[in-house]
Amino acid sequence: MEYGYAQKRTKTSSLPITPVPALRCSSESCRDTLNLAVYKTSTYNAKNWDLHSKWVDVNIQSIPVTGCFRTEMPFIFRLPCNARKHGLMILITGASGQIGVDLADVLVERHGDDQVLVTDLRIPELQRSGRSYDVLDVTYMESVEKIIQAHDVHTIFHLAGILSATGERHPELAWNVNVNGVRNILEAARRFDCKVFWPSSIAVFGPTTPKDDTPQETVTEPGTMYGATKVTGELLCKFHATHHGVDVRSVRFPGIVSHSAPPGGGTTDWAVDMFFEAVRNGRYECFVTEDTRLPMMYMPDAVKSVLDLMDAPNTSLTVRTSYNIAAFSFSAGELASALKKYVPAFECTYAPDYRQEIANSWPLSINDERARRDWQWMPEYDLDAMVQDMLHHVREKVARESANSADNQ
Ligand SMILES: NC(=O)c1ccc[n+]([C@@H]2O[C@H](COP(=O)([O-])OP(=O)(O)OC[C@H]3O[C@@H](n4cnc5c(N)ncnc54)[C@H](O)[C@@H]3O)[C@@H](O)[C@H]2O)c1
Repeated sequence: MEYGYAQKRTKTSSLPITPVPALRCSSESCRDTLNLAVYKTSTYNAKNWDLHSKWVDVNIQSIPVTGCFRTEMPFIFRLPCNARKHGLMILITGASGQIGVDLADVLVERHGDDQVLVTDLRIPELQRSGRSYDVLDVTYMESVEKIIQAHDVHTIFHLAGILSATGERHPELAWNVNVNGVRNILEAARRFDCKVFWPSSIAVFGPTTPKDDTPQETVTEPGTMYGATKVTGELLCKFHATHHGVDVRSVRFPGIVSHSAPPGGGTTDWAVDMFFEAVRNGRYECFVTEDTRLPMMYMPDAVKSVLDLMDAPNTSLTVRTSYNIAAFSFSAGELASALKKYVPAFECTYAPDYRQEIANSWPLSINDERARRDWQWMPEYDLDAMVQDMLHHVREKVARESANSADNQ
């Protein structure tokens, strides 16, 4: 039987927690111990079993397995319960970022506004009406624990992070947020029995990794600090899954193209910028060369991958670091040509900067057979479908911006 630490987390949370030394089974042949903080029953109604809560309160003298445990003390303790109460919360960190904004929309649509806790260091540019935003800095363990306890969180989508280009300019910040942040989340997930999604990246691969059809298990020797933080994060996930039973799931995202929120300082931002500049100005100066080819994905598929993976039965998952996933690859020149089909006057020029070197170290295409086999991963958008959908949304957005700026003049 699985035991959990009793937490100050439900209706009974006003009761003082009394940490006790591990209760040891009194039978010579049994080495079982019960490592629990327990609540004193003196002020608690021990009959109040709540099977819809995440924790079942159990009077210690009445648990079947504890025929072993002899105690006259009026303690209760809490067992994790499979039945999830609907009122328990989903926490999103980094929710004002490129992925967080879209993922929050879908999670709110699925579960309702009052079930999704949207947090970041900053408020997003485009705020959704009726949605409240909480400030959470994931580098502070105390804040992470407080918010999980206070809101009875059961699932965490941990998206707070520093992206590749920003990470190379601020390596200490990248390490602090990407490594200490993920460690805090995993440690809190262990203590409070939360399920976690955390995104890794194709940046775990480096110059020594096979570039074509990059396998799931291969060399991960990135030349960037961002890549190093993602490799470390993957290993932390694996450690917490295998040593502590934390149900943490992860994918290695390729570059993501989206229109809702601006990209946050990545090496593939050119793919998003090109759409906006094509619609706004009819031209774009790209910061990588025309033949720079990278694995990419459209945001609806990225969000779908998160939900599909989180919905998959735990038993079908065979990767506890991070799953390779892929949709398509294109070069900057190929995207420019695809755009020209719908914006014939569009001109793209190329002026590579420091991000070229990062792009050169990443794979050209990704093998995602394991994700397809284990949790039936399947993207829905190809390049042309993405270009048409992006253009539709970017045109709407740019038209709204123009109307707003005309109103303000
Ligand atoms: N967008 C991509 O193409 C891509 C590709 C691969 C992996 N990823 C990963 O996905 C995750 C989300 O990426 P994104 O594109 O949404 O990034 P983003 O930069 O758009 O958003 C990240 C968010 O994290 C927040 N943040 C930064 N430091 C924080 C802290 N200390 N505490 C709380 N919040 C903090 C930022 O304010 C920002 O809103 C990251 O881990 C990133 O590495 C993204």
